[in-house]
Amino acid sequence: ETDEINVCVTGAAGQIGYAFLPLLLTGQCFGDKKINLRLLDVPQAESILQGVELELQDGAYPLLKSIKTGSDETTLFKDVDVAVFIGGFPRKPGMERKDLLTINGNIFKKQGQALDTVAKKNCKSLVVANPANTNCLILAETAKSIPKQNFSALTRLDHNRAISQIALKAGCSITDVKNVIIWGNHSTTQYPDVNHGTVLGKRIRQFINDEAYLNNAFIERVQKRGGEVLAARKNSSVMSAANAVKDHLHDWYFGTKQGEFVSMAVYSDGSYGVPNGLIFSYPVTCSNFNYKIVQGLHIDEFSKEKIRITTEELLSEKADAFSA
Ligand code: NAI
Repeated sequence: ETDEINVCVTGAAGQIGYAFLPLLLTGQCFGDKKINLRLLDVPQAESILQGVELELQDGAYPLLKSIKTGSDETTLFKDVDVAVFIGGFPRKPGMERKDLLTINGNIFKKQGQALDTVAKKNCKSLVVANPANTNCLILAETAKSIPKQNFSALTRLDHNRAISQIALKAGCSITDVKNVIIWGNHSTTQYPDVNHGTVLGKRIRQFINDEAYLNNAFIERVQKRGGEVLAARKNSSVMSAANAVKDHLHDWYFGTKQGEFVSMAVYSDGSYGVPNGLIFSYPVTCSNFNYKIVQGLHIDEFSKEKIRITTEELLSEKADAFSA
């Protein structure tokens, strides 16, 4: 245990990277550990990365020990403790999902190989770039020498959106809402589940007392919130995504609170009937940079069907991604 941590951020010339770096460098992920920061992006973004580096210097962050920037994975993943994969190829109009999966699949194979070769064997990875679950699966399957439980994909933004919608509906504060769950894919098939959550210690369903809302409008709003932000802001979710990256890393590293869980997409082990070998969002508890999937929750028929739908989508993404 040293007082330094080597962190690589990919897609660091992009929007989420720009919003995330200040959170990282003010100790909001790993406390007062000094950070050896590596910023990776494509060669065409070199000048932008240099500009980001200038601003990081100007931030005069006491926690920032060193910076390296570039486009070569094997240099920048060397000895990393944590890799945050924000970089990816965006979906362009008219592009088929399969093409998106193939292009990003190739990126994550290449990065997985580099991670496998040069990163620390206990390196932790968080994939943000979409399609996040399947990109993460390809990364984990490629970086074979690193344990599968070291890989995760981001569904914390969806989790935070769900908490926030419940708090707004209940007219209470965020900290009064606990233990919502996002199951499955970070996509519109995700299932935001309130059945195990509480508001001020009372079951969410009892407290809100509006089944029609909870079973329809609530779920749809969380599933489609990215689109709602995009339409209003004429740009994708960036600030909230960066904040969720911070929350995900913070809780994974420092641990979840007693009696509380959060949502993380992790390598499925058959829990809740989900096939092995998908990156699936589950309720988890964390401590010491490890997670455990929460076991033994009762899943009703409504939820089983929702979980089945998002599982099917992940299976088909996996089939497409691995058929290339
Ligand atoms: P952006 O387009 O501003 O930034 C992406 C960056 O990745 C660009 O600088 C690009 O040059 C870089 N990049 C592309 N290929 C790369 C490669 N092979 N290696 C390294 N860098 C590479 O996009 P933004 O807004 O920062 O979003 C990043 C990703 O996060 C997108 O895929 C987006 O869909 C996803 N996202 C995921 C969320 C989640 O909850 N899981 C929420 C919001 C966004």
